[in-house]
Amino acid sequence: MSIPVITIDGPSGAGKGTVSRLLAKKLGWHYLDSGSIYRSLAIGVLNKALDVTDVDSIVTEAMEMRLVFECGEALRVCLAGQDITQQLALEQVGNTASKIAVLPEVRQVLLQKQQDFRVLPGLVADGRDMGTVVFPDAQYKVYLTASALKRAERRYKQLKEKGIDANLSRLTKDIEERDRRDSERAAAPLSIPVDALFIDSSDITIHAVLDKILSIISIETV
Ligand code: C5P
Repeated sequence: MSIPVITIDGPSGAGKGTVSRLLAKKLGWHYLDSGSIYRSLAIGVLNKALDVTDVDSIVTEAMEMRLVFECGEALRVCLAGQDITQQLALEQVGNTASKIAVLPEVRQVLLQKQQDFRVLPGLVADGRDMGTVVFPDAQYKVYLTASALKRAERRYKQLKEKGIDANLSRLTKDIEERDRRDSERAAAPLSIPVDALFIDSSDITIHAVLDKILSIISIETV
């Protein structure tokens, strides 16, 4: 039997990260935050001041990227020996990630890096194309979304809690722009996997979302 995977796809700010972490903890499985891989590459691109259309340089950066994920109490990410956990949350990093994520050559390099996370006893993978491209044979697929305003409000709260300055109308605009870019790109666009459980988290709690997901997972897996 193949190593079990639960994929959770959806737009940014829908609550995928929180739900995925809780689910992975409950099942005792590994967790892949695929967005942080794109974000880490974006940090490399920003640090070297590469142009977001310079495919060759970004592909080289992606191939040479030395990323280390430490999953203790909180996830920490190191790039080339530097702790970049704080930087990952910056809006500029997310926006640059979504610009380089349109490049098929870049996605191809990152594909194997993501598939390498599929190890026993199982994996919860969150992103945009987990159920459609990276793990099309996943046993369970979820598509988690929420209205753009609700997502911007959550993001605003998260950033404020981290002491990062934010503006709600700017965040809503950025989220809508990012949704458009992620959904309209030719390479692995954000889309609902045909066999996915669709959940709108606009008006329900994270725990209600978790319960809905757990209800589709068979007892043998849990
Ligand atoms: O999920 P997160 O906001 O961290 O992702 C940052 C950006 O990385 C997204 O806007 C998207 O463009 C890109 N991404 C992607 N495919 C994934 C995960 C993230 O294209 N599986």
